[in-house]
Amino acid sequence: MILTVTSHKGGVGKTISAIHLAAYLARRDGEGSTVMVDADPNGSALGWARRGKGRLPFEVVSSRDAGGVVRSFENVVVDTQGRPRGEGLRRLVEGCDLLVVPSTPDAMSTETIILMARDLRELGGRADYRVLLTMVKWYNRRAAQARKELNKRNIPLFAAQIRDRAAFPTAELRGVPVYELKGRGAREGWEDYEAVGREVSG
Ligand SMILES: Nc1ncnc2c1ncn2[C@@H]1O[C@H](COP(=O)(O)OP(=O)(O)O)[C@@H](O)[C@H]1O
Ligand SMILES: [Mg+2]
Repeated sequence: MILTVTSHKGGVGKTISAIHLAAYLARRDGEGSTVMVDADPNGSALGWARRGKGRLPFEVVSSRDAGGVVRSFENVVVDTQGRPRGEGLRRLVEGCDLLVVPSTPDAMSTETIILMARDLRELGGRADYRVLLTMVKWYNRRAAQARKELNKRNIPLFAAQIRDRAAFPTAELRGVPVYELKGRGAREGWEDYEAVGREVSG
């Protein structure tokens, strides 16, 4: 399966989501099953892998090197820089089984998602995509509000959502998936991505 993580907005958890979905698929299907393609020119996933010195359960390759290797993997997860439009968006959609679109539960991100959904509709309904709410804070109801707005417009959403957890930036700093860290925040952070992984599979 090919999953592409994209959005029209930066800093919404694309790289974090790509890393943890790839980790989920790699653990489910075993060593050598999964590869991650870093299609972000900033190379954030490649940097993550470098910092962790081999502690990710999958390989990360740059999009330049992807052509030759991806066919030999069962699962491919592509992390992008974002803001795909027109032809770029069409290529992304056609190249994958599911587009995962992270979004933070604030009004600006929700507006951006509504615009992206319109772009995707213009591609003629071929786009299989789902919005993932990320960095959800326990102390407000913005996620519920964002869900309501998106549901109203028939925009597909994952039932699972990712809570805001300090463990994620720590995992990013150390170059590991969040399940390598101790503590409740890390455990719950991983459970959130496992729930998304199950929805992707099912
Ligand atoms: N669920 C979360 N809880 C706390 N911090 C998060 C969470 N998801 C992402 N972050 C942090 O937010 C920042 C942006 O995330 P990132 O995945 O790099 O976004 P993008 O790839 O969309 O630019 C990073 O510093 C990351 O560690
Ligand atoms: Mg990124």
